[in-house]
Amino acid sequence: MEKFVVKGLEEGLQGTVKISGSKNAVLPILAACLLTKECCEIRNVPPLSDVIHMTELLRELGAQVEFSEEQERIRVRAETIESVESEYETARKMRASFLVAGALLGRCGHARLSLPGGCQIGSRPVDLHLKGFQALGAKSRQEYGFVELTAKTLKGNSIYLDFPSVGATENIMLAAVLAKGCTVIENAAEEPEICDLADFLREMGADITGDGTDAITIIGGKELHGAVHEVIPDRIEAGTFMAAAAITGGNILLENIREEHLKPVIAKLAECNVRTETVPEGLRVSRKGRLHPIQLKTMPFPGFPTDMQAPFMSLMAVAKGTSVITETVFENRFIHAGELQRMGADIKIDSRSAVIEGVETLTGTKVKATDLRAGAALILSALAAKGETEISDIYHIERGYYKIDEKLRALGAEIERKDVP
Ligand code: UD1
Repeated sequence: MEKFVVKGLEEGLQGTVKISGSKNAVLPILAACLLTKECCEIRNVPPLSDVIHMTELLRELGAQVEFSEEQERIRVRAETIESVESEYETARKMRASFLVAGALLGRCGHARLSLPGGCQIGSRPVDLHLKGFQALGAKSRQEYGFVELTAKTLKGNSIYLDFPSVGATENIMLAAVLAKGCTVIENAAEEPEICDLADFLREMGADITGDGTDAITIIGGKELHGAVHEVIPDRIEAGTFMAAAAITGGNILLENIREEHLKPVIAKLAECNVRTETVPEGLRVSRKGRLHPIQLKTMPFPGFPTDMQAPFMSLMAVAKGTSVITETVFENRFIHAGELQRMGADIKIDSRSAVIEGVETLTGTKVKATDLRAGAALILSALAAKGETEISDIYHIERGYYKIDEKLRALGAEIERKDVP
């Protein structure tokens, strides 16, 4: 086990940071590699623990996987699928392992996967994924903690999602590209990661239109071939570094970003008194003067991302005045508030809302990362706190931030990784 020891900064972060490829884009893209016998090459892949777990799962299913972490490139060849099963250990490590369901169903007509279960931020069911598969003609049966999916042939259909779930939209797209005929997913998720998956599937030969809107049309049934794809930059990692510049009163340049993916975050930062400027090399983020309080509601894209909610709570904790957050995407995503309170933040939670009274300064202490984005919020708070903060359970953070300590040190942060005996 390791922990981060972070010293509060006297001066703001300065310098340049290169944003890695998107974790949430690469996971469904790796699942898509199961749809063809040919070799696929994925570039700009962040070597994160979630990505490594996905490559292990693809190997267990029979794919040959070559991961060059140095070159941030993965090659997958799924010439034959030897197993259609995933175990509880895999699902427990990474909920996104369920994304292989659609691809296995499309390619083999059969999948038997351990149900991912809930996690710190909510119950996270997969009912919308299953309803989608059933609409395409699959039968689903749940017993002993597994869901078994079978289909003689998949047939295109119209599917209306009760909620624009990112995972369900991706899984249905993965099944629908090999289903015969036309599938329309309505009330589909519009996140940039959906468009990146659609781009990859099109590069493999699929016929998909409407991604990035709430209605995606897929004409399925064509044989797919190998493809080479470069993953989009991680908008949540970018947003986290923007928040780091904001909370420390710094001035940093972000390279390898897509500004159009960051619009909701940029808009809220402007309300917080944080300046962003587009420059030829990327995006410059800076703050002078105290952070302003804001009202924020998390929403599916193009709304404010739930994954940026915890980092923004850190900003609000030291803003001048009262801020309010409403979390509409996950039912239990305020666990980080308790840890921030230990650092001196004044936060009251009432169901899905949090009221944050900004304080002058936070103070360092021992805290625990309870999930990925909660952990990022603790690092941000620690950078702006008086004294030293020890953050334990950092494996959560490393699921989604590649070399976050090295990247922050290069910007002037004092953050050390230490072994916990
Ligand atoms: C993905 C992201 C995660 C992000 C989330 C929302 C990945 C690997 N993870 O998660 O970082 O926070 O999108 O932007 O891409 N729901 C159901 N039934 C379902 C599926 C979802 O009720 O079958 C509910 C969930 O419990 C949750 C909401 O829908 O309350 C949103 O979940 P979803 O969009 O599916 O998130 P994920 O794909 O799991």
